[in-house]
Amino acid sequence: MSPDASGAARIVIAIDGPAASGKSSTAQWVASVLGFRHVDSGALYRAATAAAVRSGAAPAEWTEDLVLRVAANVTLSPRSTSFAPCIEGVDVESEIRGAEVTRHVSRVAQMPRVRTWVNSLVQQAATRHDIVVDGRDMGTTVFPKATLKVFLIADPWERARRRLTQQIGRRPTEAEIAEETDRLVHRDAQDATQTVQAKDAVLIDTTYLTQPEQVERIVALAKAVTQRGSDTSPVDDHAS
Ligand code: CDP
Repeated sequence: MSPDASGAARIVIAIDGPAASGKSSTAQWVASVLGFRHVDSGALYRAATAAAVRSGAAPAEWTEDLVLRVAANVTLSPRSTSFAPCIEGVDVESEIRGAEVTRHVSRVAQMPRVRTWVNSLVQQAATRHDIVVDGRDMGTTVFPKATLKVFLIADPWERARRRLTQQIGRRPTEAEIAEETDRLVHRDAQDATQTVQAKDAVLIDTTYLTQPEQVERIVALAKAVTQRGSDTSPVDDHAS
């Protein structure tokens, strides 16, 4: 654990995995059970993408410089158990979940300096709070010494079914699930380079688990690890 300015040790629980594997909702829940804060790294890539959409430039014209310029208006605003993604200080949580942002976010996430920008915001949050952070590369690049690393996977069809149920608030049809599965598998392929299971991550397949069951498992792992204690820093000084 790394000492912060006040000398207190900070705990980092890193939850990674492919699209719609339940990382964010699980991370949020685990954070509230443990009294930590949830940091959603994907929300920052999404907010940068939403800011680029707002710029009015055609997505094909988005350069790394343009995205970084508009991302300067993106911040994470602290909440009791999370951080709200904001553009110009206004919460954009629902805007960043829209289809247009989802369609373009993977390309924005390939931009190296955008990744450096996200990683540094996420690492800053960990200097001030114990966090549960979720994404693709939290346990590998951003927090190679995280207190606990979890990699969540689930069958693509089940991930698509859950994501749609959450979005449309009713039971999706088979045809809708098939279409969403195609979109998820396509995004998984675009995100494959950065979606890596750390060697020391605990792999949890949630296909046949309920959400309370997966939360319970991660909370139990976190309690076991934090009780055992650690004298290592969750933040690698060289991570970008
Ligand atoms: O919720 P979902 O799993 O669909 O995605 P997300 O966590 O909101 O992330 C949105 C996109 O951001 C992903 O498709 C990746 O392209 C990118 N991302 C990334 O590259 N690295 C991360 N640590 C988190 C997200």
